[in-house]
Amino acid sequence: MALASPFGTFRPPNISTDPIDGIGTWTPADLATALIKGVSPDGRHYYPAFPYTSYTGMTFEDIRDLYAYLRTLPAVSGKAPPHDLPFLFRIRRTLGAWKLLFFRERQTAAVFTGDPLHDRGAYLVSSVAHCGECHSSRNIFGAIREDTRFAGGVDPEGTGFIPNITPDRIGHWSQDDIARMLETGETPDHGRVGSSMADVVVNTRMLTADDRRAIAAYIASLPARPTPHP
Ligand code: HEC
Repeated sequence: MALASPFGTFRPPNISTDPIDGIGTWTPADLATALIKGVSPDGRHYYPAFPYTSYTGMTFEDIRDLYAYLRTLPAVSGKAPPHDLPFLFRIRRTLGAWKLLFFRERQTAAVFTGDPLHDRGAYLVSSVAHCGECHSSRNIFGAIREDTRFAGGVDPEGTGFIPNITPDRIGHWSQDDIARMLETGETPDHGRVGSSMADVVVNTRMLTADDRRAIAAYIASLPARPTPHP
């Protein structure tokens, strides 16, 4: 897959169990280091196009389960072509500076209240499903602008606008409406979500109904934020 961005085109690597082209030789600790620290087994920083800024909040139990699942998938040979980035961004060391500025290990923007359904939703939205990685605007360094988190923004692929999912825009949706959209793709506005959200629904429809309800409860609790204008 080619992931276009204002910084160039990223090509997500082979994460199948192939020992040479994929990650078949990784240990569970290697996977945890990649997801939580954004660092590869050979010590390189990953580009935040791999959203470890969200995955950093994942529990070790979930990472262990994810590892066990990935191990059951077939090995696929072949490497993705290299990222297509301008010279400056090809220097991975500069990512260390980016991380100092914009990344805090084990910290996400999740807000926890002590309510189990809400907090389960906070975890799923902020760490696993990484909804905010798409539904936010970014600064010139490509980091999420906190005042626009979940308030939408220009699609980084440059093809459109990602909608505001705070009550400012979807305040008329009930929690059931949000949960139903995550299961069927249908919105209460008599439409269906399309583009990359259709791919998200392919996955959220496989969640348990309880997890979809938890995501809906958290999204409905977000503070209203105005849609940023580019
Ligand atoms: C890969 C990027 C991406 C991710 C991740 C993502 N979304 Fe979306 N989402 C979109 C796009 C693009 C649209 C607009 C779809 C359209 O125009 O048909 C959208 C639409 C929506 C809408 C409909 C808004 C409206 O006004 O119609 C809701 C609600 C929504 N997303 C919630 C979520 C939630 C909750 C998550 C996390 C579980 C999530 N999204 C994760 C890209 C994403």
